[in-house]
Amino acid sequence: MNPIDQGFSTRAIHVGQDADPTTGATVVPIYATSTYTQAAPGQHKGYEYSRTGNPTRAALETCLAALECGERGLAFASGLAATNAVLAQLKPGDEVAAAADLYGGTFRILERVFKPWGLVARYTDDPSPDGFRKIVTPKTKMVWIETPTNPLLQIVDIATIAELAHKAGAVLAVDNTFASPYLQQPIKLGADLVVHSTTKYLGGHSDVVGGAVIGRKDLMTPIAFYQNAAGGVPGPFDSWLVLRGIKTLAVRMDRHCANASKLADWLAKHPGISRVYFPGLPSHPGHDLAKKQMRDFGGMISVSIKGGKEGALKFMTRTKLFSLAESLGGVESLVCHPSTMTHASIPADLRLARGIDDGLVRLSVGIEDVDDLQADLDSALHQIM
Ligand SMILES: Cc1ncc(COP(=O)(O)O)c(C=O)c1O
Repeated sequence: MNPIDQGFSTRAIHVGQDADPTTGATVVPIYATSTYTQAAPGQHKGYEYSRTGNPTRAALETCLAALECGERGLAFASGLAATNAVLAQLKPGDEVAAAADLYGGTFRILERVFKPWGLVARYTDDPSPDGFRKIVTPKTKMVWIETPTNPLLQIVDIATIAELAHKAGAVLAVDNTFASPYLQQPIKLGADLVVHSTTKYLGGHSDVVGGAVIGRKDLMTPIAFYQNAAGGVPGPFDSWLVLRGIKTLAVRMDRHCANASKLADWLAKHPGISRVYFPGLPSHPGHDLAKKQMRDFGGMISVSIKGGKEGALKFMTRTKLFSLAESLGGVESLVCHPSTMTHASIPADLRLARGIDDGLVRLSVGIEDVDDLQADLDSALHQIM
């Protein structure tokens, strides 16, 4: 059966993961080797040196391509190494159009690494197609979006933005970290490249840092060249951890989504909360679009705490099950303060203008029992009211 006709979980568990040809090992082994013995110079079995290629990493890359319905996948040492490899395809003078609400590290690499090198990034506070139309110019070579965005969970219309980008002669790159390929497959909606921090839902257990890029062969060939030339690759153990995480992605995501949905409904009525940002709520401006382009609404919720910064800081140190920590997408629930943690690299005035105030708290809802998570949040909220 062609993998493309198989269901998501079948692909997650099997693609790229045939039994090991030399030993029959059912699970892809961790090929802890930097080099490969050749029968004669240049006569090898497809691998020469592990920066260039490693069988454990290759299994992960093949599986990632199948999950995102792309032609080729490449794994990187982190999400930002993946982002870097994509942006490095541009030339000084080129422009990138992006929604203003995006991961702080992506903003930092655009502004502090690529801007001095000559790349121009334009941002729109309005993530609708009209907002993007206003910042796309004849020099725009890439449109970069996240959806849902980090941390305000805005929903960006992938299909319409892809059309708009292509008309302008640009490619569309989608950071699909928050949704995961289980909930949303941007390439099927017209995107050219998909980027992941595999540190998050794909790895799923907060025990590995990694990244990935997936896309069409013609776009991936120069990125593969860059991957080898610049060398930001994951080791075999990290590749294996992500591959192991991927096997349970679908069942984990179903539980993340169910838990987040229940908590968001409850938080929306809580007297300690002034606003809930969650695309699953019918009141969310991107709700209908999320229903159209996503399988479900994801496991991330942001909330504005009524007590502002003081309330938020107190709340985050009162939860017991939600750990106060950066990152997201693991089986355990996390709480974080975007303005001082994940988005601290955005200057304060810009951050405020973008709606990331000091009372905003981001929740990565894990797969624990939802009643325990609700009791934990309720107890912390009552301690600050
Ligand atoms: C949406 C998003 N993209 C990219 C990254 C960067 O990934 P990494 O931390 O693996 O470099 C993050 C990290 O939090 C993220 O949230």
